[in-house]
Amino acid sequence: MRIDIVTLFPRMLEGPLGESILGRARARGLVQIRVHDLREHAEGRHRVTDEPPFGGGGGMILKPEPLAAAVDALRTSGSSSAPRARVILLGPAGRRFTQAEARELARESHLVLVCGRYEGVDERVSETVADEELSIGDYVLTGGEPAALVVADAVTRLLPGVLGDESAPTNDSFARGLLEHPQYTRPEVFRGASVPEVLRSGDHGRIARWRQLMSLWRTWQRRPDLLETADLAPEEQKWLDGFRQGRTASDFVD
Ligand code: ADE
Repeated sequence: MRIDIVTLFPRMLEGPLGESILGRARARGLVQIRVHDLREHAEGRHRVTDEPPFGGGGGMILKPEPLAAAVDALRTSGSSSAPRARVILLGPAGRRFTQAEARELARESHLVLVCGRYEGVDERVSETVADEELSIGDYVLTGGEPAALVVADAVTRLLPGVLGDESAPTNDSFARGLLEHPQYTRPEVFRGASVPEVLRSGDHGRIARWRQLMSLWRTWQRRPDLLETADLAPEEQKWLDGFRQGRTASDFVD
C-alpha cells in the first residue's frame, strides 16, 4: 500500500508518521507513506495557494490549480499499469469516516489524501480532482492534517503484518459494531478499585462470556446508536432486552 499526503504543512505530519506502529510499518516496508508540500505545485514567484472567496465572506480558500497539479503528479508517478489511485479530500463537509470505511480503504493499493484548510477548498477540487470527501467527525479542525493522520493510521494498522497476531484487529472496538470490553492489568487493586474477579479466575469460558456481556453493556451505555446496526448473537439479544427493561450487566454476571 502506498499513501501520499498533500498538505501546506508537511511538518505537521512528518513527526507523527515516524513514530510507534506507523513508523515501524514504514521502516519495514509494509506501507509507503510520503508527504508532499502543496506549495511546490503553486505557480509564480509567490507560489500563491489561496485566495479570498468569490461572493465575499471571510477567510481564504485553497485554489484548485496547485491541488490538481499535486494530485496529477502523484497519479502519473507510478507505472502506467499501476492501479488508479483513490483520491480523498479531508474536510468537515465530507462523508463520515468509520471503521467500515477504513476496512474498505485498506483494500486499495494507492491512496492520495488531500488536506483542506478550515476556511475552505475550491469546490472544483471535489468535483474534478478528488474521488470523494471524508470527515473524521462532527467538529471543525484548523485543517485536514490531523484527519489525514487519522485515516493513514486507521488504514495502516489493518494492513497484513502491521499488528502482531496478539493484537489482531478482529476483536477491536467496532470489529463487530460494538465497543470493546474494559481491559485491566496489574496491580489487582488500584486506588481501592479491584480487577473483576472473573478475569483472575482462569476460567476462559467465563472470561469470554463476561467480555461479551461488558462489550454490549458499554455500547448500551455509551453508544446506543451502534446497537441499531450491530450483529448480535441470541444471548446478546437477550441481555439487550434485559437492559431495556432496566437490568444491568451485573444482573447477568455468573
Ligand atoms: N478539516 C477540518 N475539519 C475536518 C474534519 N472534521 N474532518 C476532516 N477534515 C477536516
